[in-house]
Amino acid sequence: MSELQFTRQEYIKAARVIHSRTQHQPRIGIILGSGLDSLADQVMHADRISYRDVPHFPASTVHGHSGELVIGKLSGADVLMMRGRAHYYEGYAMAETTLPIRVMRELGITTLIVTNAAGGVNEKFRVGDLMLITDHINLVGMTGLNPLRGPNDETLGPRFPDMTAAYDPALSDVARACARDLKIELREGVYVMLAGPSFESPADVRFIRLIGADAVGMSTVPEVIVARHGAMRVLGLSLISNSLAPSHAQVTHEEVLEAGKTAAPKMAQLIKAVVGKI
Ligand code: HPA
Repeated sequence: MSELQFTRQEYIKAARVIHSRTQHQPRIGIILGSGLDSLADQVMHADRISYRDVPHFPASTVHGHSGELVIGKLSGADVLMMRGRAHYYEGYAMAETTLPIRVMRELGITTLIVTNAAGGVNEKFRVGDLMLITDHINLVGMTGLNPLRGPNDETLGPRFPDMTAAYDPALSDVARACARDLKIELREGVYVMLAGPSFESPADVRFIRLIGADAVGMSTVPEVIVARHGAMRVLGLSLISNSLAPSHAQVTHEEVLEAGKTAAPKMAQLIKAVVGKI
């Protein structure tokens, strides 16, 4: 079966629409995950564009994801923020969930800051912690659902992109230094993506702990793969929204959103500091 794919022309068309609605020239793209989108309120001179107005842009159907691009100034830099993302579990093709990354690239964005809410698999993690993503496990991709599956357009990136340093070491160092200055405890670890939307069973959690995951979520990895395919630099940050420590209690989406809201100011502070330094 062949998956839905977009052409470079379609990415360019979407980028043109965005370009025509803003004077800003962002070089930094920021994806705001569940419960974390209040940072968009801090963007100055903001141009707001609904995903509905951008050709092919997937609208998130999930509560807590607004579906709006916010383009303007943050810490003196031009940024493009995505308030919410489309997930694979919503029924979108991988090409749709990752289309915004390709559109960002057409707009000249070279750095991607990607955030998410994630379940804490590492037993040392506490709800509300921030985690620097140092690497990922593409569990969904290993079973064939890689966003790069299908014919490769060499103008978008190589057939076999490297993933050895997917999360940019220099950007990660900037995040570490900013967290230290702000006295924010920054955990570090490996993010594993599961397709969702059901949360993990206790046996699922034992399995993902065993394979080396510190946090688990339902997004991010395809976006990072497409960003790296296009040679963008990536910084990944997770908010630990719930604990999956042994014998974890029930997980609810409301709990995830609530933790996002509580920790959003901390995440916002860190991102603002990082943007000011890059
Ligand atoms: N599992 C998967 N995805 C998540 C979780 C979780 O516990 N929390 C937030 N996103």
